[in-house]
Amino acid sequence: MNAMSALPALSTLPPTRSADLDLVRIRAEFPILRQKIHGKPLVYLDNAASVQKPRAVIDAIGECYGGYYANIHRGVHLLSERSTVAYEGAREKARAFLNAASVQEIIFTRNTTESINLVASSFGGSVVKAGDQIVITGMEHHSNIVPWQLLCERTGAVLKVAPFTDAGELILEEYERLLDSGRVKLAAFVHLSNALGTINPVKPMIDLAHARGIPVLVDGAQSVPHLAVDVQALDCDFYAFSSHKIYGPSGVGVLYGKQALLEAMPPYQGGGDMIRLVTFEKTEYADLPNKFEAGTPSIAEVIGLGAALDWLTAIGLDAVAAHEHELLEYATARLQEIPGLNIMGTARDKAALAAFTLQGVHPHDIGTILDREGVAIRAGHHCAQPVMQRYGVPATARASFAVYNTRDEVDALVKSLWKVKELFE
Ligand code: ALA
Repeated sequence: MNAMSALPALSTLPPTRSADLDLVRIRAEFPILRQKIHGKPLVYLDNAASVQKPRAVIDAIGECYGGYYANIHRGVHLLSERSTVAYEGAREKARAFLNAASVQEIIFTRNTTESINLVASSFGGSVVKAGDQIVITGMEHHSNIVPWQLLCERTGAVLKVAPFTDAGELILEEYERLLDSGRVKLAAFVHLSNALGTINPVKPMIDLAHARGIPVLVDGAQSVPHLAVDVQALDCDFYAFSSHKIYGPSGVGVLYGKQALLEAMPPYQGGGDMIRLVTFEKTEYADLPNKFEAGTPSIAEVIGLGAALDWLTAIGLDAVAAHEHELLEYATARLQEIPGLNIMGTARDKAALAAFTLQGVHPHDIGTILDREGVAIRAGHHCAQPVMQRYGVPATARASFAVYNTRDEVDALVKSLWKVKELFE
C-alpha cells in the first residue's frame, strides 16, 4: 500500500475541457447528472460499479418499447422483423467494437458473470478433468474466481493463482511458471482490475499461454469502457464484458469466443431459440450464435447496448482514454496531499480508478460522509475479497471515473475527504 512514488504534473487545462473532449456537451447528454444529492451537485464517481447512461441509450430503449417491440427471430409480423433487425444489428455493433471476425462469435448473455459461467460450464465441463488445472491471477473479481472453483469442485481440477506485487502488478514469471505444469486447460484473467486499476499485460499473457497450447479467457468488464480492445490482435480465445459498465443498460453481457471453440462446445442452457429440431428422442441445436442464447433475451437492452457502443465509438476510445488518464493523474496527485491516505494499486500501467484507505476511518464511513456532500463513491471489498486479504484490509474506498467526469469533480472529492479527516480528528 505504498503511495505512488513519482507525482505527475498537474494539468493546466480549464476544468470542463480535456485534451480532445467537450465535457460540457458530453455531460449534457446524461440527464441523471443534473440533479442534486443532499442539496449538493451530484459528483458520480462510482463508475466501475455501474456507469450512467447517455440520452442516446435511454432513447434507443424507449423507441424500441414505444415503437417496434416484439419477440425476435420467430415472428412473421413486421414488428418482430424490425425487432430482430435491431437486435442483430446490435450484435454486428458488438462485433465491430471488439473487431471479432464474425457475428457468430458474439454471444449475448446477462452480464460478464454469466459469460464466464458459460465458458466454465460448457468449455470447462467438456474439457477439464480431474487433476487438470485452471490458472487465474490474485487480482480477480469474484466472477472470475467462483465459476472456476465450482468447476474444480465438479471435476476434481485444481485452481492455481498467479501472485502480484505490492504495487498491484502481476508477477509474469510466476504466471509463466504456473502455465508450465503440463496440466493447465485454461488461463483466465482480468484485463483491468476493478479493485486496483491495474492494466494487465494481456497480450504477453495470452502469448505465453498459447505457446503451451493453453486457451485464454479475458475478463474485460472494466477495460472495455476505457481501452480499445481488438480480440483478433490480442488473439484471446474468449473475451467477456457487461453492457452496464459501458454506458449501456444492465441485464446484458457479451461473450466473444473463437468460432471453432464455440462450435465444439456444448450448449450452456437448453430452451427456445437455441434449437434446430426437437423431438423427444433427440434435439439438434441451432448454429452459432443462437446455440448459446436459450429463451427470449433482453431485446430492448441489447438494442440499448448497440446505441451505447455507437455513442462511445463516436467519441473515440483514444480520446476517452486520454481524458481519463489525465483525470487519474490529477486525482492521484490531489489524493496524495491528504495525510494518512494510502492509494492501493500503484501499477505503472493503470486506469480509471483510485482505491484508497484513510488512516483511522473505515471506508464505509468515508462513503457515507462523502454521500452527504453529493459525492458517490464505492466502499467495500469490490467483489475482490482476495485482493483485500492480500493487503490485509477489510475494504477500501474507491473513486472510479467515466468520460463525463471533470477535474472540478476530483476537487469536490478531495475537499470532501478533507472534511472526513476533520470529523475524525
Ligand atoms: N464489480 C463491480 C465493482 O467493482 C460491482 O464495483
